[in-house]
Amino acid sequence: MALSTKPLSGMRQRFPEQFRVEKFVTDMLSGSSVSAGFQEYDGPVIEPLALFAAKSGGELVGRQSYSFTDRGEREVILRPEMTPSLARMIASSGELQLPVRWFSMPLCYRYERPQRGRVREFLQFNLDILGSSSLASELEVILVLNGIMKSFKAPSSIYRIGWSSRRFMTEALLRCGVKQELHSGVFSAIDKKDKMKEEAWSDYLLQSCGGDKKVAGTVVSLVSVESPSDTWLVDLMAESPALREVQEFDMLLEKTGISSAVFSPGVVRGLDYYTGIVFELMDTGRENRRSLCGGGRYDNLVGLFGAGRISGVGFGLGVLTLTLFLESYGLVPDSVRQAAPADVYIAIASSSVIATAGLLAESLRNSGIRVMMDVSGKKLGKQFSEASRNRITQVITVGVEQAETGIYKMKYLPDGKVTAGSVEELIRILK
Ligand code: HAM
Repeated sequence: MALSTKPLSGMRQRFPEQFRVEKFVTDMLSGSSVSAGFQEYDGPVIEPLALFAAKSGGELVGRQSYSFTDRGEREVILRPEMTPSLARMIASSGELQLPVRWFSMPLCYRYERPQRGRVREFLQFNLDILGSSSLASELEVILVLNGIMKSFKAPSSIYRIGWSSRRFMTEALLRCGVKQELHSGVFSAIDKKDKMKEEAWSDYLLQSCGGDKKVAGTVVSLVSVESPSDTWLVDLMAESPALREVQEFDMLLEKTGISSAVFSPGVVRGLDYYTGIVFELMDTGRENRRSLCGGGRYDNLVGLFGAGRISGVGFGLGVLTLTLFLESYGLVPDSVRQAAPADVYIAIASSSVIATAGLLAESLRNSGIRVMMDVSGKKLGKQFSEASRNRITQVITVGVEQAETGIYKMKYLPDGKVTAGSVEELIRILK
């Protein structure tokens, strides 16, 4: 029986056109990071399972992990995210001058049900600041995120950065009457609000609130609040430093004019390590329902490695989710998809001049010109068609006469104009 032509479900393979689109996206992400003073890093794809079991959360490690025992009897995992590896790298380099601003583009693995925007092998752009507790860090990463959306020419009406605070929500839940031991379950329920049918979600929330209808009702009121200055909320949170922090951040966002950032107590994030401000970037339309990006502050992750408390703040952004979003709104330029793989095609009129064609290709390439030399051995007409199919506009033909005289003819396919000249002259024209 022949082998299957399909890769494993959820694993990625990209044909050249898809690769060009992905490269357009990742180059833009790297460019925005570098322009804000972030430096690139990377870590191992295979990590000890314990690294993620400690803080990433039961769902990610228990149900979505690619984990196995290696030949040395170690429990290992294909990294489902980058943040714990980053925390370990920071903890292990005692000589780092803090704060550090780093970014990365890791391949990550999660055994999720493949669907639009969710696969099992995905590139996740990460950008983090470590070693600063100032709210300026939260503002900085959201400014970079907003700048990224602007770099793709996405108007602020088509995306929304919903944000809240874990610290604030922990205190608010206590004031709503949710006992501390129920918080983790209630956070999970809040996180699933937009992923479940309304009735099923209400039941789930009620259960996570220990079956207390009044408490569950107050939690529903809490997640519906739209401003940190809401009078019901201000009453509930009287004298709370966590509310003051949220109000201060709200003001910073307003003063910097990030109109896409909206206070949303329903954003609590599914990962366990977040402690402060958290945020998620969503499409405001209906086509892309899962988050494009999520992040926030984590105070206690680096401390797990015994390196003292170094607070971090950052986000992870799915390259696939962002690409689907950009495609939905026509924000991937046609020129990216249709880019020609070379500037010039060298057509070969006779097999006796292959070496001459090869030397010509080499001279042009040494001058920085992208050259595709014919390898098909087909008739000249077919070679010209091959150049057109590849959207290459210039074709130089090498025949016996050209090989003898060193003077080549170059045809510009869109208007059929022919120019003749030596290698040096052609290089000058092409450049
Ligand atoms: P996360 O919310 O789990 O956060 O993932 C961030 C983003 O990665 C998601 O919003 C989504 O775009 C993308 N993503 C997640 N799972 C998949 C998947 N199965 N297929 C395609 N894309 C996916 C984190 O991972 C945190 N470590 C982010 C972070 C960095 N927080 C602070 N620094």
